[in-house]
Amino acid sequence: MQTTHWYLLTILTFLFISCQTNQKAEIPRPDPHSFSRPDSVVTTHLHLDIVCDFDAKKIQGTAQWDIQNLGSESLVLDAMDLDIQEVYIEDAQGNREKGTFFQPEKPDSVLGSYVRIPIRNDTRKVIVSYSTAAEALALQWLDAGMTQSGRYPCLFTQSQSIYARSWIPCQDGPAIRFSYTARVQVPSGMIALMSADNPQMRNDSGIYHFKMDKPVPAYLMALAAGDFDFKSIGDRTGVYADPGLLDKAAYEFADLEKMVLAAEALYGKYEWGRYDVIVLPTGFPFGGMENPKLTFLTPTVIAGDRSLTSLLAHELAHSWSGNLVTNTTWQDFWLNEGFTTYFESRIMESLYGKDYADMLSHLGWQDLKKTLEDMSSDPDLTKLKLDLRGKDPESALSDIAYEKGKLLLRFLEERLGRSRWDQFLSDYFRHFAFQSNSTEGFLDFLEKNAGPLPVTISDTVRKWIYEPGLIDFIPSYSTLLFDQVDLLRSDFLRSHKLDTHQTGKWSTHEWLHFLRALPTDQADWILPALDQTIRSRQSGNAEIAFVWIRYIINSDRYQGHEETVRSFLNSIGRRKFVLPLYESMATHGRKAEALTLFAEARKIYHPLTIHSIEKVLAE
Ligand code: BES
Ligand code: ZN
Repeated sequence: MQTTHWYLLTILTFLFISCQTNQKAEIPRPDPHSFSRPDSVVTTHLHLDIVCDFDAKKIQGTAQWDIQNLGSESLVLDAMDLDIQEVYIEDAQGNREKGTFFQPEKPDSVLGSYVRIPIRNDTRKVIVSYSTAAEALALQWLDAGMTQSGRYPCLFTQSQSIYARSWIPCQDGPAIRFSYTARVQVPSGMIALMSADNPQMRNDSGIYHFKMDKPVPAYLMALAAGDFDFKSIGDRTGVYADPGLLDKAAYEFADLEKMVLAAEALYGKYEWGRYDVIVLPTGFPFGGMENPKLTFLTPTVIAGDRSLTSLLAHELAHSWSGNLVTNTTWQDFWLNEGFTTYFESRIMESLYGKDYADMLSHLGWQDLKKTLEDMSSDPDLTKLKLDLRGKDPESALSDIAYEKGKLLLRFLEERLGRSRWDQFLSDYFRHFAFQSNSTEGFLDFLEKNAGPLPVTISDTVRKWIYEPGLIDFIPSYSTLLFDQVDLLRSDFLRSHKLDTHQTGKWSTHEWLHFLRALPTDQADWILPALDQTIRSRQSGNAEIAFVWIRYIINSDRYQGHEETVRSFLNSIGRRKFVLPLYESMATHGRKAEALTLFAEARKIYHPLTIHSIEKVLAE
């Protein structure tokens, strides 16, 4: 095309965009995943007043926002599938008047919609009454019949990354922080809990009051309501779970208080007061979610032998990396997850020693190498700093942020020496506490505070961040425990006999390492040879069951094992487990069966999980 044409086209595009955005040429939004404009008006405090209606499966209520107006004529709040009913604006003297609001005709397919509320210079509060949609992506509603005890229904949220906007109209970007209070009404007999100061007992009224006086970003807004009892673990720690699961959970998480102490010894004071965890129904889509003061957990972490508690260390570590120092946008997601995965492994090392921690790190490193191979067709997504403009922030969710991020910090630890590196990290958390930080902010702080860094190190760090793939660095993890597993596997593949005396001593991780490297083309003898052992070992251990079932599907042995697959998909709702299984079935010629299984099992899945599976099975 000729230059003049380009020129014309640019002007036309500009005019078109200007018209769309209210006649004004706008500077780009600072966060590509939020419609809000925190550069001109910021929300500083929320009072949420809501009723959870379990019959209609709706939250109804008001969000009352304190704002700081930096010279804007309107407040834009992200809103996904919300029914906005009325808005009011209030000035500093408390004069309240009914406001107007505008919403775009069509929502964005990824970001949802927004509501724009005209405000005045002296507006101090904006009050929005609204209700949520039945299909709100953050919310899973369960009828009583679907819960463990069957006595009460249950509701819980999952706001990260951009779904807080599906249950609260808010400036939904990780760089915007606000404190909050809330009044939540649930049916009598149930308890409600939030990412805030929490009750430990139920009350008869079903009305609960909450307070989070530290500023948090919207993705850390969380609510769970249902049949949960509390059990104390340590001075500052405890667990909420279904009454029938509470003792098992308390046993599994016995080291929680020690973990908090270990974390503090590493990188400074735990800033949030109490640290409790809640075990949610199986539909909880993740392993864990670091909601401040109250980590949300999958029930699959309860293996009975405390072998999966690195997940606790992970979510606890987020109290520093993520909740205290928060990624500025989801393009800097590795700052949250890479730092946390590194920190997690330091906590594990403090509690259980280097060999155990290194074994876990080694598994993660293996995952990373595999992920890099799998993602070789989309190398841009293997950079730490991502360009996610126009993309779903979900595309940042891979081992890259977690494991490549962790490896970079491990590299720095090995190059700088542990004591210098640990000092740097403590300073980093203190310096950026209760703020967000970008990748560039990290680099700058690194140069100024860990320095002087040799050029070779600075260059390498930049390469890891801005270039795809893995850097030539082999971490010095001890492989003591896995070497033995490798030997036993070779033996097994040669003799077709498993040394059950040895495997009897294995933890979950040794099993995972053993199973992951089994050749799929020898499934004809491997499956019968291991079936019994795995059956007894996998019961109650979703990690092992998952790897085993994936092996069955990937070696084209679905037929003959239908019931194993079916019962897993109907009882486990964690997305990390079920999504890859549906995906593998589809790629191994079993799409029709996958669709049938999904139709049956979807009732136990969270809307986010359903959304992801639908995408995979529609391809
Ligand atoms: N914050 C994440 C979960 C998350 C990330 C939810 C992005 C939504 C969007 C949480 O801390 C996490 O990483 N969970 C992991 C467990 C961890 C041990 C790797 C999970 O759920 O598998
Ligand atoms: Zn995490």
